[in-house]
Amino acid sequence: MKLDDSYPFYLANCPESPNTDLEVTDKYTGEVATRVPLASPEDIDRAIASAVGATKPMRELAPYERQAVLNHCVARFEQRYDELAMSLCIEAGKPIKDARGEVNRLIDTFRIAAEESVRITGEVLNLEISPRARGYHGMVKPVPIGPCSFISPFNFPLNLAAHKIAPAIAAGCPFILKPASLTPVGALLIGQVLAETDLPAGAFSILPCRRDGADLFTTDERLKLLSFTGSPEVGWKLKQRAGKKPVILELGGNAAVVVDEDADLQDAVERILIGAFYQSGQSCIGVQRILVHAAVIDAFRELLVDATRQLKMGDPKLEETFIGPMITADEAERLESWIAQAVEAGGNLLCGGKREGAMLEATLLESVPSHLDICAEEAFGPVAVLSQFDDFDQALAMVNDSQFGLQAGIFTRDWVKVQRAWDELEVGGVVIGDIPSWRVDNMPYGGVKESGLGREGVRYAIAHMSEPRLLVMRTPPGE
Ligand code: SIN
Repeated sequence: MKLDDSYPFYLANCPESPNTDLEVTDKYTGEVATRVPLASPEDIDRAIASAVGATKPMRELAPYERQAVLNHCVARFEQRYDELAMSLCIEAGKPIKDARGEVNRLIDTFRIAAEESVRITGEVLNLEISPRARGYHGMVKPVPIGPCSFISPFNFPLNLAAHKIAPAIAAGCPFILKPASLTPVGALLIGQVLAETDLPAGAFSILPCRRDGADLFTTDERLKLLSFTGSPEVGWKLKQRAGKKPVILELGGNAAVVVDEDADLQDAVERILIGAFYQSGQSCIGVQRILVHAAVIDAFRELLVDATRQLKMGDPKLEETFIGPMITADEAERLESWIAQAVEAGGNLLCGGKREGAMLEATLLESVPSHLDICAEEAFGPVAVLSQFDDFDQALAMVNDSQFGLQAGIFTRDWVKVQRAWDELEVGGVVIGDIPSWRVDNMPYGGVKESGLGREGVRYAIAHMSEPRLLVMRTPPGE
């Protein structure tokens, strides 16, 4: 299967192709796979004006009408399953098995949003808290926040766009979305499907554009929320320039997994292999730091290194491929230099480390000083570092010794340690008996520290896209 020669962008629900200025490459072959138009600042301005015009009709869409739009998307994604998976495989270099996994999650995300769209409710408040409030009654209902601005990343071109789009429709908010320039096709395919629905005119725009021409996504005061997924460096800068609008940031991490002495080592290895190396480690919750109890580290290391050496690297379109290309050769080169830096500082290269273009082998290191980039910064590639601990509290301190805090995984069967980890770890989520990379799309997802602000996971995103509106009613005296 090939991509179409070109794809339009969507401005105020309609396909437009004013140019074909953005070449999208096949990340494995490096060849141009398709072309898409780039939106100008004037196009973005028009999209925002249309979203403002769609605010009232979107708010007035009945919940069952929002649900019908989302259910239409679910049905169409199911019909176009193979095409969607192959588009990810081509534009992101994502191994086909991971690509299918992402399409499954796209479908889940829209299905969850369809369910949530008809159960958004408010609350009745008891206001009679003192004599002066006698006879007063309160109710709160959520109202859509208004036009939203979304910026989505390259590593999940479908599902991380879906985590913004689907809750916006459920909440009743019009939106404009800028997909990553390296992987715009996924979001444009969602746009094709949305264009088949009865969404009010102007409700959505999906506009690939150059970062330096995309200022309005951040600064325009007509937009009432900015939701960004991407690098911490970019995300925190955008927040400074976003003015009065609330900002949701889903940023990076250097996720840790703890393997305690009572863990089933074979099971832990099988899961950590996936957490560290699926889609070449290009996930914000990919396993980067592996902390293993001293009593089991020798056995664990042997199993993990052996399993890592067996991972097949190559063409992401082949069923047997586990490691495909990183998103660009520059990114792979950056990580190669971090590996070299770690080895120069005395780190032990257990396996991998070789690079050709964008292909970087699955790499394991050990005994790396924790201040080096490969431990302290976000690797976002197929590299993980083993370290040893002697007791559980030390392991928790090592997890927390990070500027980031997205998710952590713990392999232990000790209930008391589970409670302690849940209390002590400075992260958005703790996963027991599995990797930090585990996610289903209805759970709250997001981080603390440099990892971001706010939560996605459909219901939580809907809450950010809604404002509470209070109604107070007074019963007149004598009534
Ligand atoms: C991310 O990389 O930010 C998201 C990871 C996921 O959805 O699994």
